[in-house]
Amino acid sequence: MIWKFITFFVRKLEPEIAHQISLIALKLGLHPRLKRIEIPVKINNLHFINFLGVAAGFDKNAQVIEKIHHLNFGLTEVGTITPLPQYGNPKPRVFRLEKDQAIINRNGFNNLGMAQAIIKLKHYRKKFPVGSDFVLGINIGPNKDSNDRFKDYEILSKDLSEFADYLTINISSPNTPNLRDFHETENLEKVLTSVKNGIAESKKLELHLPIFLKISPDITENNLNLIIETANKNNIAGLIISNTTVDRYKDLHPDNLHEEGGLSGKPLFTKSTTFLALANKIIKHKKYNLYLIAAGGVLDAKSAYAKILCGAHIVQLYSSMTFVGPLIADNILKGLQQLMNRDKISSINDVRGIVDNPEAAMKIANDGIIDNFQT
Ligand SMILES: Cc1cc2nc3c(=O)[nH]c(=O)nc-3n(C[C@H](O)[C@H](O)[C@H](O)COP(=O)(O)O)c2cc1C
Repeated sequence: MIWKFITFFVRKLEPEIAHQISLIALKLGLHPRLKRIEIPVKINNLHFINFLGVAAGFDKNAQVIEKIHHLNFGLTEVGTITPLPQYGNPKPRVFRLEKDQAIINRNGFNNLGMAQAIIKLKHYRKKFPVGSDFVLGINIGPNKDSNDRFKDYEILSKDLSEFADYLTINISSPNTPNLRDFHETENLEKVLTSVKNGIAESKKLELHLPIFLKISPDITENNLNLIIETANKNNIAGLIISNTTVDRYKDLHPDNLHEEGGLSGKPLFTKSTTFLALANKIIKHKKYNLYLIAAGGVLDAKSAYAKILCGAHIVQLYSSMTFVGPLIADNILKGLQQLMNRDKISSINDVRGIVDNPEAAMKIANDGIIDNFQT
């Protein structure tokens, strides 16, 4: 109750100030300390205590990783980190769409840069070495004014890999001009080569570092097909689907809807989940060994379950934390355990990817798996 109350008041503040206050509260230890919930997932050599993670953008500068353990997430993704510090776009640049449980942001990779992040990561890794049971992803992207963005990806992977359980290549923020051009095959190949070169030059002892590619939901089906081909050819671990969208939906309330930037939260659910299901279908059909991390509009156990039913191995969230507060992971995991009991499944592996669209997934999440459901 107290956390609901606090979240309600923090949400009255300007969004970036509210975000800063949340980070300060976490740093000071003013957060719930929850009993650990295990719903284990394995991806290659990564073992997750549970499948739910904080998406990139919340802890851009790797300041509160340890605190996020206490909130019952199984992983967090820090960043997006750029080589040099970057202010980002002028403020205000984050807007709530209260009535739609959504956010529009045009931050533009505001972060303190790689050197500052390394200080925090070193400190964290002294206590929790790579391979500890809380998984840490590091999300990287180029500086806006860089004259060689490929080099930026190489530098970042060279210097950050040793701290990462997995690396995410962000090519999908709508707020860095032309970044989304990296979805195009030739560019993507070059980005992947740069990142692999960086890892090879890094101090990472074991060179097999899982790489995920975070993609936009605003691409075509053909483009998705090509990305999956490229990812498979390059031994990428998987895709994160998705980043924010530049779409605006007619049925949303008008407050702040005109603001430029990427839309996230509840209204992103259908689009990002449709793409996730499509990627799952393509990957299954081609028998590729690619894993899927879902992000976009997860706000409760049913929406998280729907992502799994559409093919997600891991589920991330960000926007709903603003609306629900620090108990969100606990609520989702407990709710998911109830859904699993209702549907008589002992592991989420049993139902992963059994449907191919978000509507069918939400129907199962709401009504349960019908006894004679055919997979
Ligand atoms: C304020 C804000 C900042 C974000 N910053 C980043 C970022 O730096 N890098 C990134 O890859 N994604 C970023 N994202 C996107 C989220 O990681 C996530 O992909 C997206 O918001 C969809 O998930 P959600 O609907 O649960 O928020 C940001 C999202 C928000 C709302």
